[in-house]
Amino acid sequence: MPRKIAAGNWKMHGDSASLAEIDALIATHPTPAVEIVICPPATLIHRMVCHIGAHPIAVGGQTCHAAVKGAHTGDIAAPMLAEAGATHVILGHSERRTDHGESDVIICAQARAAFAAGLSVILCVGETEAQYTARQTQAIVAAQLTQSLPQDATPTRLVIAYEPVWAIGTGLVPQNHEIAAVHGAIRGILHERLGAAGAAVPILYGGSVKPENAAMIFGIANVDGALVGGASLSAAAFSPIIHALENA
Ligand code: 13P
Repeated sequence: MPRKIAAGNWKMHGDSASLAEIDALIATHPTPAVEIVICPPATLIHRMVCHIGAHPIAVGGQTCHAAVKGAHTGDIAAPMLAEAGATHVILGHSERRTDHGESDVIICAQARAAFAAGLSVILCVGETEAQYTARQTQAIVAAQLTQSLPQDATPTRLVIAYEPVWAIGTGLVPQNHEIAAVHGAIRGILHERLGAAGAAVPILYGGSVKPENAAMIFGIANVDGALVGGASLSAAAFSPIIHALENA
């Protein structure tokens, strides 16, 4: 059985005052029954790791460069994330694909670097609204996954996140059967690529996950958790999502 993961992607939100939300999460979830991962802006990673101390909340980056070092102004290498205390990194998020032109080839190289640095990779895939309307969802997701997943991926440190681009920050969510179909197809590809180990890779859903819809989404086959944007910024909104996953 895959592990259950509630992951928060803070995107370009958060400052030192936001660490109070971590205090609130720790107070509400002293011994969580699921994995909790928070991916803050890079400026907060080390402070958040120190702040969390011995509590099992994990901290992740939001991208990494494929190289271990070099002349790449503004970029962060995977070993730098690891040294700062991050254990995870989100790769292939649609906002990175759009804002920074990251292709599947680039994402694959980033993933290889992340695995080499000992990080767990939360690999994001998902179709745009136009692709959804054109009924290309399955083809797009399959292509992104097969092309961005390194041949030598470490299955025990791999997490997939299905995030339809049109569902991110919009309040829109695919129908349950649509999520089930995509997650089922992802599970099939993981089996093909990783053999038996593919069965244990968590597949998260992301895109407008809220306290109100979390339990329903976690009831869908092959949904092993969520990658949450806006609702992960406050403990008041993220906690009920964590509880829903614990009870799923
Ligand atoms: P929202 O939960 O704000 O829709 O964002 C989802 C997301 O992009 C997480 O990576």
